[in-house]
Amino acid sequence: MRAVVTSLYTHVLNCLSSFFNISSDQLMLKGLTIIIALIAIATYGFISYLQRSPELPEIDYERWWGNGPKVAEDGTVRPFKIEFNDTMIADLKSRLKNRRPLTKPLEGIKSEYGMNTIYLEKVLNYWVEKYDFKERANRLNDLPRYKTRIQGLDIHFIRMKPKVQGMKTLPLLVLHGWPSSSKEFQKVVPLLTTPRTGHDFVFEVIAADLPGFGFSEGTNKPGLSGLHIGVILRNLMRRLGFNQFYIHAGDWGSNVATHMITVFPDEILGYHSTFAISFRPYSFLKLFLGSFVPNFVMDPKYVNRVYPLTDLIQYFLRETGYLHIQSTKPDTIGVGLTDSPAGLAAYVMEKIGVCTNRDQTNTDHGGLAALELEDLLDTVTILWNNNCIVTSSRLYAEGTTKETRIVDNIPTKVPTAIVNFRYEVLHQPEWMLRDKFNNLVHFTFYDYGGHFAGLEVPKELADDIFKGMLAILEFNKKKSINL
Ligand SMILES: *[C@@H]1O[C@H](CO)[C@@H](O)[C@H](O)[C@H]1NC(C)=O
Repeated sequence: MRAVVTSLYTHVLNCLSSFFNISSDQLMLKGLTIIIALIAIATYGFISYLQRSPELPEIDYERWWGNGPKVAEDGTVRPFKIEFNDTMIADLKSRLKNRRPLTKPLEGIKSEYGMNTIYLEKVLNYWVEKYDFKERANRLNDLPRYKTRIQGLDIHFIRMKPKVQGMKTLPLLVLHGWPSSSKEFQKVVPLLTTPRTGHDFVFEVIAADLPGFGFSEGTNKPGLSGLHIGVILRNLMRRLGFNQFYIHAGDWGSNVATHMITVFPDEILGYHSTFAISFRPYSFLKLFLGSFVPNFVMDPKYVNRVYPLTDLIQYFLRETGYLHIQSTKPDTIGVGLTDSPAGLAAYVMEKIGVCTNRDQTNTDHGGLAALELEDLLDTVTILWNNNCIVTSSRLYAEGTTKETRIVDNIPTKVPTAIVNFRYEVLHQPEWMLRDKFNNLVHFTFYDYGGHFAGLEVPKELADDIFKGMLAILEFNKKKSINL
């Protein structure tokens, strides 16, 4: 076989060399040169194609998300208090007490098959017997809360002014993800509004619940992606008198914030994120190419947060079933979760555990031990009380559209500070992040902490927001001098 191929090859080479009237060696050299040149041109063309930034699509900044057709709205900002009322509590407790027996885990299994039901049972008993609904609501109400109607939806937010007046005050919009609400930042907000030494600024914090999450109303209209949520929140900030502001965000909040800094680069002065991702196709090509030389494309100390890609893919296949369900059939899973508080608790707490420490599925708590039980039950109680598990889960189905993919591929100049906690769900090296976040001014890594840093390490998160902001302010100062 081999002999046949070789003789065929020699024959073709001889024919060609006599046709072009040059020696076969020369022919090989010319052919090779041409092939290399073609590959180089094609690669260059492909990379330029991937690097080019598309035009911003047309966006309706007043799009109506309320029921029925658009109507004139009352734009007042109303104070709001969280209440867990007796009817809700009695109904919830009766459901928890009257639940059917849970199926025991397989022998020797901890959380590998999902929420450990022996552990869950303890959590549910605590919820019924020890969790003090009224006291927890009072605690949440320690932070001043408001609601206002934007584009047809009632939007809820915490607004906390600095504890000391007269200092340089930076308005900071703080955004959570799924299955959270502004509750995630309950312990962070007061740290941000407290002046600290070495910083001549302090924050005024606006921590909003995304529409369909927490105490913000969900929409009945399809199409409310992170891009359009970003428009709603920008309109919220304008309503509050902030034409320019800063953002801190994680998880879906980061998706929203990333759209905001792309669409409103002159209104957002800086962005701090625990979960920044470049979704530019070019970055994914780099992610793949980087897998051949990981130590070359990122600090070797943190290589295991990204590579080998096979580990990352395995982890994703293992832990993202919920993402596929919610991206495709959120309403079906939602029926069970809306009807059973035990089911709701199991579903969201399992996910919170894994995202806090993915290496602990071999324990009965599955990663939850790093968080306070009361905080977790606040999160589940809020989801239950507001019946928002379906409206919040739908964001996975609504999140990616043709429009968002275009905006994802447009880089932004807004100065960005990124923090990477040890067990953050997804991490990209700087090499890729800069494709989207052109002015990456601060980048920190921690050997601890997970996806819900606001719950787990509130102090360290607040510290990093202050540090990142110093770099952002420095960048903006230099930029204004250059003008
Ligand atoms: C109690 O709270 C639930 C959930 O927020 C609400 O649907 C219900 O209308 C409230 N009931 C009363 C009597 O206030």
